[in-house]
Amino acid sequence: MYKAPRGTSDILPQEQGYWRYIEEKASSLCQLYGYERIDTPAFEDARLFIRTIGPGTDIVEKETYTFEDRGGNPITLRPEGTAPICRAYIEHGMHNQPQPVRLYYFASIFRYERPQKGRFRQHQQFGFEALGSSDPTLDAEVIDMSWQLFASLGMGHLSLLLNSIGCKLCRPNYLERLKEYYSQHIPRLCPDCKQRLKRNPLRLLDCKKPSCHDIAESAPRSVDHLCPECKEHFENVIRHLSLLGIPFEKSHRLVRGLDYYTRTVFELQPRGEEGAQTALGGGGRYDDLIEELGGRPTPAIGFAAGMDRIVLNMKQQGISPYPPETFRVFVAYLGEKAKAESVKLTAELRRAGIAAISSFGDRSLKAQLRHANALGVPHTIIIGEDEVGSGTVILRDMTKGEQKPFKRGEIVHVLESMKL
Ligand code: HAM
Repeated sequence: MYKAPRGTSDILPQEQGYWRYIEEKASSLCQLYGYERIDTPAFEDARLFIRTIGPGTDIVEKETYTFEDRGGNPITLRPEGTAPICRAYIEHGMHNQPQPVRLYYFASIFRYERPQKGRFRQHQQFGFEALGSSDPTLDAEVIDMSWQLFASLGMGHLSLLLNSIGCKLCRPNYLERLKEYYSQHIPRLCPDCKQRLKRNPLRLLDCKKPSCHDIAESAPRSVDHLCPECKEHFENVIRHLSLLGIPFEKSHRLVRGLDYYTRTVFELQPRGEEGAQTALGGGGRYDDLIEELGGRPTPAIGFAAGMDRIVLNMKQQGISPYPPETFRVFVAYLGEKAKAESVKLTAELRRAGIAAISSFGDRSLKAQLRHANALGVPHTIIIGEDEVGSGTVILRDMTKGEQKPFKRGEIVHVLESMKL
């Protein structure tokens, strides 16, 4: 028996309501903030991601789906959505548009991770990016928007964690302080952190192992080592967030798992689970990324939320999406002439915008009504030979079990007015 590959899942019809609900809320939020939709391919040149996410990151080292296509080109299935947006920004000369350019996307993301609750090998992200300004009000806008996303979904009990990890001018000095500090604790570090100390010291701070946690708590803080420009920027972000009434907590251990970030980084986590790998979304500034990819210097900031985790969290919080459209009509028939009439009527109903399902085969009326009940359809139209002869149909209310005849020529209209 074939099964969906490990770390992937099917989104069955009964689950779709959650996904459409999130998509609708997210799209109208973007509309409200002036963001426009963009779709990029599910795979890109592998070098795009190595360069942007960082060669020493877990994602690039262990998690990408990378292969050569039949033409010998190195390909990677999209492991995140920001680098492709930057590639598109450059490729389509978006620097010629009014800045910042505000874009949003829904995208399947592929990471070869160890599957567990809320962690999959294919997941779906909703993200938005504002490219072309370093103004801290834009940081506040993007963070506000992230916060409002969850508010519009009715989700509470969330913490917004905020940090600044400085820029290419002040970070090297900070990393030196961090390495000095960690060098005194090497024997107590987990094997991964011993590697991080050599290759990616910033990531030492967000190690999830309890033994490393204590060491990280007392580590030097990036916010204490910012250059004057980054310090002022961070203060302004905080000022604007306070102005907007967004509750945030400063977290000096928040560094994010991708190497392209500069200055502001932030994450939204279920309250009480801060520090665990359960973030519902995260983002930050990446002021050097577009230039590194060959574009002009273009500061930018963005955010992405994991839709699979949002669905899990909505269920935990008992939040129901919109109920599915229930007004549907089942058309049952008895006999050959009635069958033809039922096919015709089903088509007429659909053309009038009424969801309709025709019966099939050669079954008793009882079997057909059982089928309609199993589908949860509120109304069934019954057409027998007599009805064909008299130009009528029977409309049965499946909940009450009551039925009434109507003229064939009027039934579409009757159902239309019932739907209103
Ligand atoms: P990220 O934190 O790697 O950031 O992913 C964003 C969100 O996707 C996470 O907070 C989480 O909810 C979800 N997620 C990540 N990995 C998985 C997984 N294996 N299974 C299920 N959900 C997952 C980014 O990808 C950045 N591109 C965000 C960004 C946009 N930064 C700036 N702009």
